[in-house]
Amino acid sequence: MSGSDALVQAARDARERALAPYSRFKVGAAIETADGRIITGCNIENASYGLTVCAERVAMFKALSEGHRQFVRIAVVADTQASTSPCGACRQVLWEFGRDLEVILANLEIVTGRHTMRELLPHPFDGRLL
Ligand code: THU
Repeated sequence: MSGSDALVQAARDARERALAPYSRFKVGAAIETADGRIITGCNIENASYGLTVCAERVAMFKALSEGHRQFVRIAVVADTQASTSPCGACRQVLWEFGRDLEVILANLEIVTGRHTMRELLPHPFDGRLL
């Protein structure tokens, strides 16, 4: 897991701040920028359910709103044995702004998977097709 320890730990810490009273499924995410900064996010649920935002999109939108534009990796953490993989909406957003990010999936103890966005979102729709 060399090199990604701090990123995964940041995602674990962010998970603690999740607002998930309805699902009780807490997720944390941490994005590493090209210049080595770490920006975190957690899932934020809403009583209307559909307005819930996943940890990955919170992290990406925070990073973008702070002016970051180049990203290398994202770590996603949930308290599950099997990997919690970004949902379809998050994959689309991560592709739009992060392109072929490395995606590190982990639980509270170990890294459970490593992927690229290209693997998670083959044949993506993006601005080049407009
Ligand atoms: N969730 C995330 O934050 N990221 C994922 O990758 C999967 C799902 C959140 C959304 C919702 O608050 C809860 O987990 C259950 O779906």
